[in-house]
Amino acid sequence: MSAVTGPHDGTRCVHAGLPEPVPGQPFLPGPVFAAPYHLDPWAGPAASPNGYGRPDNPTRRLLEAAVGELETGDCRVFASGQAAITGLLLALLKPGDTVLLPSDGYFPVRAFATETLDPMGVRVLFAPTGGPYPDLDGVRLVLLETPANPGLDVVDVPALAARAHAAGALVAVDNTTATPLGQRPLDLGADLVVASGTKALTGHSDLLLGYVATRTPELLDAVTNWRTVTGAVPGAFDAWLAHRSLATLDLRLARQTANAEAVARLLAGRPDVTGVRWPGLPDDPAYPVASVQMRRMPGVLSFDLGDAGRVARFLDAARLVAAATSFGGLHTSADRRAQWGDDTAPGFVRLSCGVEDTVDLVADVTAALEAAG
Ligand SMILES: Cc1ncc(COP(=O)(O)O)c(C=O)c1O
Repeated sequence: MSAVTGPHDGTRCVHAGLPEPVPGQPFLPGPVFAAPYHLDPWAGPAASPNGYGRPDNPTRRLLEAAVGELETGDCRVFASGQAAITGLLLALLKPGDTVLLPSDGYFPVRAFATETLDPMGVRVLFAPTGGPYPDLDGVRLVLLETPANPGLDVVDVPALAARAHAAGALVAVDNTTATPLGQRPLDLGADLVVASGTKALTGHSDLLLGYVATRTPELLDAVTNWRTVTGAVPGAFDAWLAHRSLATLDLRLARQTANAEAVARLLAGRPDVTGVRWPGLPDDPAYPVASVQMRRMPGVLSFDLGDAGRVARFLDAARLVAAATSFGGLHTSADRRAQWGDDTAPGFVRLSCGVEDTVDLVADVTAALEAAG
């Protein structure tokens, strides 16, 4: 784990993006609901940063300041993770370019590449997160997803970024699973971070959000312009709710990671569960790289229960494991990914640990496995 200087994670989350204290004003200003704003009759939009709600919203800017502080770059938020990823790809790629995508990452990104990028004339290559990676000569953009959802393989970002940069390619890292407290891709050599904020970043299963962060002004401009013309912005209330939720990220992740470790160890010790993956387990294939480049381990793990019927019996018996997709929320949930069309085995389960007490969760998962037979 890398050393942290300055304020630590909990302090950074609590204070991220908050304005300077003003007597009589709240810590986090409430949401500003506006499509148009009053304009100065003479100076017009030049007089204020707020002219029209699609490009300009002060609640959104505070959230962007917060996420940017955590990712150590400049941030633009989007209406969802998919809006951020597709916006990034379309803002940076043009016909004739080549993009390299993970073959084992979030599967709608692969569908978008095949259904939209390829017919546009963008050449799409795929590589598994754990490698091997092809020759990167002629590649414009490498998108990495680490840990990958749902298989939780990990890639050595500094090594891949060095190879990509030597070949003249840009590198973007999907930081959804890790969150900016779990790893800082911009410090690891990536040019861009892209992520869904729907998951652990905001963590209450009540909103959709995405973001792109970078330290490169031209890349930020390209992404900002793309968002302004396409309009994939989150509303003011969601932006405010996300900012409020961000303050507890450190606390939530601490419990989620502790729970994931306990559940992973429980599952790994059971003969009736196979393929347990959690990058924090010392004998996991991802551990050697993850333990060096990640600052903390995710609350998500995966395993195989053999078939769809056994997964259903497990979910039905569990009292603390909700049958639900998505991950990173306060409540423990589990998802049989094949039911959504993901390229996974019929009994493959992604389990997202919530913030319940570890002892209760371990007891519930144990009882549900016994009941599932
Ligand atoms: C790794 C990853 N990236 C992107 C997304 C898309 O995010 P959203 O659902 O917010 O559009 C997801 C959603 O599950 C994801 O897991």
